[in-house]
Amino acid sequence: MTPSRSTPGDVPVAASREGSSPAEAGDVTASASLAPKPGAARGPAPGAFRAGRNGTITVGIVGATGYAGGELVRLLLHHPNVKLAGLQGRNRDNQPIASSHPHLSETGLVIDQAIPEADAIFTALPHGVAAGMAAEIVARGSALLDVGPDFRLHNPADYPRWYKFDHPAPDLLAEAVYGLPELHRDEISAAADRPAAIVGLPGCYPTATILTLAPLARAGLIGDLAVDAKSGVSGAGREPKPDLLFSEVNESVKAYGMFNHRHTAEIEQELQQQGERGSFGSREANPGVAMVDFLPHLIPMTRGILASCHVRPTRPVTQAELDALYDAAYRDEPFVQVVADPPATKHVFGSNLCRIWVRVDPRSGRVLALGVIDNLVKGAAGQAVQALNVLFGLPETTGLEQHPIAP
Ligand SMILES: NC(=O)c1ccc[n+]([C@@H]2O[C@H](COP(=O)([O-])OP(=O)(O)OC[C@H]3O[C@@H](n4cnc5c(N)ncnc54)[C@H](OP(=O)(O)O)[C@@H]3O)[C@@H](O)[C@H]2O)c1
Repeated sequence: MTPSRSTPGDVPVAASREGSSPAEAGDVTASASLAPKPGAARGPAPGAFRAGRNGTITVGIVGATGYAGGELVRLLLHHPNVKLAGLQGRNRDNQPIASSHPHLSETGLVIDQAIPEADAIFTALPHGVAAGMAAEIVARGSALLDVGPDFRLHNPADYPRWYKFDHPAPDLLAEAVYGLPELHRDEISAAADRPAAIVGLPGCYPTATILTLAPLARAGLIGDLAVDAKSGVSGAGREPKPDLLFSEVNESVKAYGMFNHRHTAEIEQELQQQGERGSFGSREANPGVAMVDFLPHLIPMTRGILASCHVRPTRPVTQAELDALYDAAYRDEPFVQVVADPPATKHVFGSNLCRIWVRVDPRSGRVLALGVIDNLVKGAAGQAVQALNVLFGLPETTGLEQHPIAP
C-alpha cells in the first residue's frame, strides 16, 4: 500500500501534475473540460496528505453496491491520481461489480466483504454503520471520508436526537471536519495533520441549501427562513421501500419528514457557524437560522435537488447588494455558478456543479434563493472526490471536469 502519511522524502507529485497537459495527465475528459474559474487551479495546501511517489492515491469504497458507492466508482475510474484498491459490500465475496452496477460491468472490478487497505476509504453506508468501522479504518492510517451522516454533526448529543443512535466514537467525531470544500477548505486540508483524518461529507439537501444561503448567513441577513426542497428518488438510496415504488412515485409529488427531517440539524449547524464567521460575528446574527423550517418533497425524477429558500431578511436589502455578496462568495469557486435565470436540476445533471439564483422581491422585501445540484454528484460522490482532492493536496477539480448531461 502506498503510505498514507507524507514523509519528509515524499514528492508532492500532485504539484507536478498541475502544469501537465490534459493528455499528459491521462484525463480523457479534459479536452472538453469546464472552463476553470480562477480558483479552479488551487494547488496543494501545506500539510495536506500527498499522493504517493508515483502520484497515486489508493482508494477503497465501502458500501460500493449502493447508489453513492456506485457513483464513486464511476467518477474515480477517470481520476488521474486514483487507483481503486478495493470495493467492499456486505456479504459479498469476489462478486463481479456487474451484479450491483451493470453499467460498470466492463471494468472487471469485483466486490468483497473485507474493508480494503488504502490511503483513503470512502464509506457510503446507512447512518450508524460507518461510525462503527471508523476506529479500524483510522488505526490503519487511512483517511476516512464518510458520505453518510456519521461525522457531520459536531455535537454527539445530536445523534440520538436526530438519528436515534448514540455515537459509538465521540473521540473520532471530535476529529472530524465538515466536508463542504467551499466553506471548509482549509479545515479539510488541515485534517491531514490531525491524529485521525476524518471528513464528514455533507448531505444532499444540506449541500444545496447551505451553499445557496451561506452568503446571506455570513452577512447576518437571515431573519426568518423556510426551505422548500425537492429531491429525485435516488436520494433515498436503492434499498427497496414501498414508498419508492414506481407506481407510488410516478405522476405524484409528496412532502415528507415534516418538522423533523434529519438534515435540519446539519443546515442549522452550518448556517449558524457561517453567521459566527461572518462580519457580524455572533450566533444572534441570523435569528431565523436557529430554527429552520425545512420541508423536503419527493419528486418523480431519478436525480436532482432543488432547494427553494425563502428568507425574510433582517433588514431591507437591494438586488445590487445581493449580487455583490454572491459574486464575492463564489466568483473563484470552480463548482458554484451564480446564474442570471432560475436554474433547473437538468442544468447540473451528472456534474459536480451547484447553480444558484438569488433575487429580492421588491414588493414583499423577501429574498428568494434557489439552488440546484445533482444529489449523487455534488450531493454525494462528486463532493467526496472534491474533498479527497483537497485532503491530498490535488487541484480541486481533478477528476470532476464533466459537463452536465442534457436533455
Ligand atoms: N443517495 C444520495 O443521493 C445520497 C446523497 C448524500 C449522502 N447519502 C448518504 O450516503 C449513504 C449511502 O446512501 P446510498 O444512497 O448509496 O444508499 P444505498 O443505495 O441504499 O446503499 C447503501 C449501501 O450500504 C450497504 N448497507 C446497508 N445496510 C448495511 C449494514 N447494516 N451493514 C453494512 N452495509 C450495509 C448496502 O449494501 P447492500 O447492497 O448489501 O444492501 C449498500 O452498499 C447514506 O448514509 C446516505 O444518507 C446519499
